[in-house]
Amino acid sequence: MITVSGLTKRYGQRVAVDDVTFTIGKGEICGFLGPNGAGKTTTMRMITGYLSPSEGTINVFGHDVAEEPLEAKRRIGYLPESTPLYGDMRVGEYLAFVGRIKGYKGARLAAEVDRVMEATRIADRSRSLIKTLSKGYRQRVGIAQALVGDPDVLILDEPTIGLDPRQIGDVRGLIRELAGRHTIILSSHILPEVQAVCDTVLIMNRGKLIAADTPANLARRFAEGGEVTVTLAVDAETAAPIRTADGVADARLIGADDRSSVWGLTPTGDDFTPLRKGIVRLAAQRDWELIGLTHGSASLEEVYLSVITREESSS
Ligand SMILES: Nc1ncnc2c1ncn2[C@@H]1O[C@H](COP(=O)(O)OP(=O)(O)O)[C@@H](O)[C@H]1O
Ligand SMILES: [Mg+2]
Repeated sequence: MITVSGLTKRYGQRVAVDDVTFTIGKGEICGFLGPNGAGKTTTMRMITGYLSPSEGTINVFGHDVAEEPLEAKRRIGYLPESTPLYGDMRVGEYLAFVGRIKGYKGARLAAEVDRVMEATRIADRSRSLIKTLSKGYRQRVGIAQALVGDPDVLILDEPTIGLDPRQIGDVRGLIRELAGRHTIILSSHILPEVQAVCDTVLIMNRGKLIAADTPANLARRFAEGGEVTVTLAVDAETAAPIRTADGVADARLIGADDRSSVWGLTPTGDDFTPLRKGIVRLAAQRDWELIGLTHGSASLEEVYLSVITREESSS
């Protein structure tokens, strides 16, 4: 298990990571989702022990990263944001170099290099110069180096960035294969990425953790508090009786100008049908032009956007 508590990182005045707390269970694939600058890389670098926190504690499978950095580091394989590969080295040579740094020698070293090349399916490129490989292959070499030493935890920072769709599919498949044997933390600024491979999602924005749950629960949670968005071709004052329409528990004015208004309506029950019918009936009675009436159980995409937009508008 990985436990992160009150984690904060300040760069001068700037708070890159702000009081973040979460736990990740053994064998889980956890996705850090957030726009650029959210604090994903900073958080990951602190977990790996390469960057020390301003405040807070990190425990990796029973080892405090600050108190027992070597024990913690030994349990972590890390693929940084821009993979530092040596173009003029051959794949096998490079992985042996990484293995020696991690304390492997002789026959054990050779066996470990073979194992990680098998796991990432790059054994056929063992003798290729890294610089001659495609980006997709290079990323697999990056993952292979993170696998050396068979760490409990794999931390992959934007593992599919810059890859073409087929390569993305390959890398995602590889990540899924590695799950179970390893606890995986990956980051992405693209929602479908985490939705496709992760068991849990931590949404970060501006250094803060703003949601943590399974992709399905996140979508459901936001859908239950969900609204029907109604756009009318009448100003807010004229449209005010919308608050008393059948099926409406609560009405929130989202925006308006002198000719139109947009409302967020919460239904009285779980069912949105009475509300939709109530709105259509009221609009007909009052001769309001109904421009839009939308709702769906929110997709994670909508959740992500709404959370991020709300955070931005409130700060
Ligand atoms: N070495 C640094 N010095 C100063 N500010 C930094 C440094 N590294 C990151 N930051 C800032 O911290 C914030 C979070 O960055 P980062 O963790 O890289 O976000 P993400 O990986 O989610 O894109 C950003 O505002 C970034 O500019
Ligand atoms: Mg980053």
